[in-house]
Amino acid sequence: MRAVFTANCGSCHTLAKAGTSGSVGPNLDDVGLDAEQVQAIVRSGAGVMPSFSDKLSDAEITGRLREYRPPAPSYTNGVMGKYAKLVSSASEGAVTR
Ligand code: HEC
Repeated sequence: MRAVFTANCGSCHTLAKAGTSGSVGPNLDDVGLDAEQVQAIVRSGAGVMPSFSDKLSDAEITGRLREYRPPAPSYTNGVMGKYAKLVSSASEGAVTR
C-alpha cells in the first residue's frame, strides 16, 4: 500500500502510516469513510482530486480496498468519546444511533 500511496496520493494527502504530509486534500488520518466511499472517490475523483481509474486498474483498487480497515476513532474517552459512541460516522450525517 505504502509505495502506491506515496507516489500517487502523498503529494496531496497527509497519512501518518505512509509518512506523507501533503496538504492539498484532506488529512486522511481524520477521514472516517468506508471502503466503498474511498473506492468511489479514487475511481472518479472529487473536486481538485483527479480520477485514478486510468492509472490504477480496477483489480488493483478492488484488491486494496478489500484489505482496507477504517481507522479507529481518535476519541475514546471523555465527553468526545461518549459522543463518538452515540453517533454514526460523519459521512452518514453523524446522527444518533
Ligand atoms: C492533486 C491532488 C490530489 C491527489 C494526487 C489525490 N488527492 Fe485525494 N483529494 C484531493 C482533494 C482536493 C480532495 C477533496 C475533494 C473535495 O471534496 O472537494 C480529496 C479527497 C479525497 C478523499 C475524501 C476525503 C473526505 O474527507 O471526503 C479521499 C478518501 C482521497 N482523496 C483519497 C486519495 C487517494 C487514495 C489518492 C491516491 C490514489 C488521492 N486521494 C490522490 C486531492 C488529491
